[in-house]
Amino acid sequence: MINKKKLWKTADNHNTEERIENIKKEPVPEHIAIIMDGNGRWAKKRALPRIAGHHEGMKTVRKITRLANKLGVKALTLYAFSTENWKRPKTEVDFLMKLPQEFLGTFLPELIEENVQVQMMGERSQIPKHTLGAVEKAMEQTSTNDGLVLNFALNYGSRAEILTAVKDIIHDAKNGILLEENLNEDLFSTYLMTRHLKDPDLLIRTSGEIRLSNFMLWQLAYTEFWFTDVNWPDFKENHLLEAIEAFQRRSRRFGGLS
Ligand code: FPP
Repeated sequence: MINKKKLWKTADNHNTEERIENIKKEPVPEHIAIIMDGNGRWAKKRALPRIAGHHEGMKTVRKITRLANKLGVKALTLYAFSTENWKRPKTEVDFLMKLPQEFLGTFLPELIEENVQVQMMGERSQIPKHTLGAVEKAMEQTSTNDGLVLNFALNYGSRAEILTAVKDIIHDAKNGILLEENLNEDLFSTYLMTRHLKDPDLLIRTSGEIRLSNFMLWQLAYTEFWFTDVNWPDFKENHLLEAIEAFQRRSRRFGGLS
């Protein structure tokens, strides 16, 4: 007897593989940044606690990382916790701060296997030891991997990042390490937390919100934006493919002419 379910699944997978191959024929965004939004609403719709949405969102992180790596994306920056997220109830904050440990505890061996390099950006001093410890251990264990860079923005805020850069620049100028006449956009970028990464080519925000929420304000100057109403826990591989296909149809002029 024909197993219809299996046939359908095979056809679907085949379709996805074909789509991936087609995408790879055009320039794939080297750096994708994602504002993973809508975990709370996903949970509310299902009468679940908000933390259930974050937990489901963690599984989406794994799926999307795997696909981005497969597509040859060089860096994936994920907004996991903003400097403003401390305003949430303590139980939610505590849960969010445990997620990197759970994620890395479960998936680090696979990430190592797939040659993924874990990085993080954000103000480290306020992050609980158990969270930072897990992330730093993963960074150390993957530091020689040269596949996808999986960059977690954790306790990250762009205005604070820019302000710190300005203070460091003033410090270096006062100490003769930096000459004012040498300060340009490229040099300024080296004072930011993204100094090892190129600026994002594509920004994705889920859940229907259309704002930047203090995310990579300097780095997104010429980034292509793609918004979707889909909540992050429902964001599937096909959505990432759709975003990249849309990106590939855009004409990027960087202020010049095409
Ligand atoms: C925004 O949704 C989401 C966050 C503040 C947290 C994002 C975190 C994850 C997706 C999990 C991260 C996983 C790892 C491995 C670190 P929201 O809570 O603001 O949703 P809402 O707007 O619907 O309430």
